[in-house]
Amino acid sequence: MQSIDRSQSRRRFLKFLAGSPLLALCAPGSIEELIASAFQKPSGWTADEPSLQKLITSPEQALSVFDFEPVARQTLPPAHWGYMATGVDDDATLHANRTAFSKFQIRPRRLIDVRKFDTSTEIFGVKWKTPIVIAPVGSQRAFHSEGELAVAKAAASRGHLQILSTVTTTSIEDVIAARGAPVWYQLYPTTSWNVAQALVKRAEAAGAPVLVLTVDLPAGRNTETLERLKKVDSRNCANCHQPGIEGRLKRKPMFDKIDVKGLADYYAPTLTWDFVRRLKDSTKMKLVLKGIVTREDAALSVENGVDGLIVSNHGGRAEESGRGTMECLPEVIDAVQGRIPVLIDGGFRRGTDIFKALAIGAKAVCVGRPYLWGLASFGQPGVEKVLDILRVEFELIMRQAGATSIEQIKRTYVVENLR
Ligand SMILES: Cc1cc2nc3c(=O)[nH]c(=O)nc-3n(C[C@H](O)[C@H](O)[C@H](O)COP(=O)(O)O)c2cc1C
Repeated sequence: MQSIDRSQSRRRFLKFLAGSPLLALCAPGSIEELIASAFQKPSGWTADEPSLQKLITSPEQALSVFDFEPVARQTLPPAHWGYMATGVDDDATLHANRTAFSKFQIRPRRLIDVRKFDTSTEIFGVKWKTPIVIAPVGSQRAFHSEGELAVAKAAASRGHLQILSTVTTTSIEDVIAARGAPVWYQLYPTTSWNVAQALVKRAEAAGAPVLVLTVDLPAGRNTETLERLKKVDSRNCANCHQPGIEGRLKRKPMFDKIDVKGLADYYAPTLTWDFVRRLKDSTKMKLVLKGIVTREDAALSVENGVDGLIVSNHGGRAEESGRGTMECLPEVIDAVQGRIPVLIDGGFRRGTDIFKALAIGAKAVCVGRPYLWGLASFGQPGVEKVLDILRVEFELIMRQAGATSIEQIKRTYVVENLR
């Protein structure tokens, strides 16, 4: 028992260390040495535990999605790692997304035949073999040369729904071709209706059935961890990143034929419910709001004709609320009362995390950083392995808990302890 506790605390420490900005101060390649030297063998430690010290060198070696994180950290230049890893301010919301899961405990049922089980789920009339969704993430070529294409191919080979970011580094047409099926399109509307409309029309013409409007970045953000890591990146960032909105959008193909002169940013301080209704009326695509975290806004979403929600705090990258998305989910589910599907993201790393969210009432769960760790580490096979691990872990807890279909994963399966 004692050695299990030690092993867990050692693992937790290594995970913390791997995500720590302190590592950015070390020369690339020294991560293994640092990890090894930072953790002295505790007295009474019998096993050498080399698996905890050695970074994986192929996706097949991974035992959990966490195994990819230090490899991504080692592979990426500090600023790009910083962009991926950062939260805001003290990264408190980023961490809250993880700790929130411990406030929900699973109540497994016994004596149920679980040989046959079905993880498929339907969203907007389309059946998916898994409720695990690929969250929209901008600039994926900053993590791997194949970027969104590698992710699309992994989504295709494993049957996952993919949501593509406004600021994708690959066009939606190319991503849909690689995916071999439509993807949902995420929209940062900008401050210009014309720019938003041009993006929406292009996504619609490409075949996206669902538009995901991100509503949690009206005022910019304080990505302090990213700024710190930029300072220790010795490369000349100006070689790739040009200043100003035109410079920033130059390498984002969705803006290729759009006049962005005079645009303040791609975030939108002008966003209100009027905009949501206008946007909804301007497209045949279903409209999903991403970033809703309160019962009040969930109710307003339904009143304003929104088709679905993603409970999200942008992976702890928007405001520093200190509140994990799992803590927000129950009130959103209660306000919506089953009238529209509710998805969630933020800190999902284990099959049990997914099970808990579905039990509270989420239709599906979006995953961000874990597939980026896989992408940065090994490209498409890395993304595939991350998705495989999450699916296998989720299937395991379904069977352990006695739920043989997604419909059976009800609220009685969890105890909430939100205080
Ligand atoms: C590097 C990075 C870039 C992101 N870019 C976008 C984006 O372009 N649009 C968006 O709506 N959300 C974006 N997000 C937020 C994700 O869609 C998602 O909400 C978040 O990553 C989920 O949390 P997780 O990373 O803990 O799984 C980004 C997240 C990360 C880590």
